[in-house]
Amino acid sequence: MRTRVLKINDVESDCSAILEAARLIQGGEVVAFPTETVYGLGANALDATAVQKIFEAKGRPGDNPLIVHISKRQDVDRLVRELPPAASTLMERFWPGPLTLILKKSHLIPDTVTAGLDTVAIRMPRHPVALRLIEYSGVPIAAPSANRSGHTSPTTAQHVLDDLDGRIPLILDGGKCQVGLESTVLDMTAEVPTILRPGGITYEMLTEVLGQVRVDASALKPLKEGQPVKSPGMKYAHYAPHAQVVVVRGELDQMVERINALAEEYIKQGMKVGILATHETKDYYKEGKVLVLGSRTQPAVMASNLFSALRQFDDLGVDVVFAEWIETKDEGLAIMNRMLRAAAFRVIDA
Ligand code: TXA
Ligand code: MG
Repeated sequence: MRTRVLKINDVESDCSAILEAARLIQGGEVVAFPTETVYGLGANALDATAVQKIFEAKGRPGDNPLIVHISKRQDVDRLVRELPPAASTLMERFWPGPLTLILKKSHLIPDTVTAGLDTVAIRMPRHPVALRLIEYSGVPIAAPSANRSGHTSPTTAQHVLDDLDGRIPLILDGGKCQVGLESTVLDMTAEVPTILRPGGITYEMLTEVLGQVRVDASALKPLKEGQPVKSPGMKYAHYAPHAQVVVVRGELDQMVERINALAEEYIKQGMKVGILATHETKDYYKEGKVLVLGSRTQPAVMASNLFSALRQFDDLGVDVVFAEWIETKDEGLAIMNRMLRAAAFRVIDA
């Protein structure tokens, strides 16, 4: 299969490309498209056969459910059995945007989408191309991130092409994703709304609206053997670049010192070393290929650069990446959730 890439500069003047993508969705095909978080690989969420093609293209395990994307608030009503008032409040406050709500599903949602769960994940993305594509398709669009399963999520059309060239018919290129990390997944069926995956809508923002919010233990810890899995996506090795990632935790100067020592040691052994630094520390590294996430005072900016930095290390062919720990407040929680998974939870205390 040849994969075409259509550039969308403006949803009005490039509407014919979006229409073409919508026709593919209606015809039961998959299409990659930009959202404000990461690129998604979409199919008609009400068509089990179409959704199956997403799993095939990604090589995704069938027990990992998908997020259903909608373009209008009313679209939720027929997709769920119950709508808690707190969920409506959140939709009003944060949609369109990087917040996914877990709700009790209606019979319209095929089991393939939810991996047999009784709940469904729903979000309204903020990206104009995504909204227009859903609208033109006339159906809700099920979409995981548009990467090969287990790899780093794509934040540009080129990332999607690198992973899925020849496996999907079309990519809509809407430029670089602004948020850069996947949406916050919030379970609204739990007694206290629970963050299953931290993202751009932060714990702090949700607490301000809801009062009480929980963060699932899996956010910063690996799942233990036999522990019940609330969000199946969190149990797989994830976001992994080809290099081995090691997170170094401690005070700023101690982290720098330890990373310099580790870099020296590995380089001596003939390894190619990458360092994932911040604006505050970048000038203190002596060796290795240093990439900068951003300033520690702007966690949202650091979040938006994480995945592209991990992919850049792949392009540079490094064998090992030493990454600085980031404080887990605001977007920092989502950064460390992804970084720890990319590192398969290898953490060294400085
Ligand atoms: O920002 C995003 O959310 C992106 C863009 C494309 O919208 N999508 C995305 O999808 O990240 P995916 O498939 O990579 O991640 C979906 C996450 C997984 O961790 C999955 O386990 C969880 O949502 N999930 C989906 N349905 C669920 C459900 N019913 N209960 C619990 N977790 C669910
Ligand atoms: Mg994903």
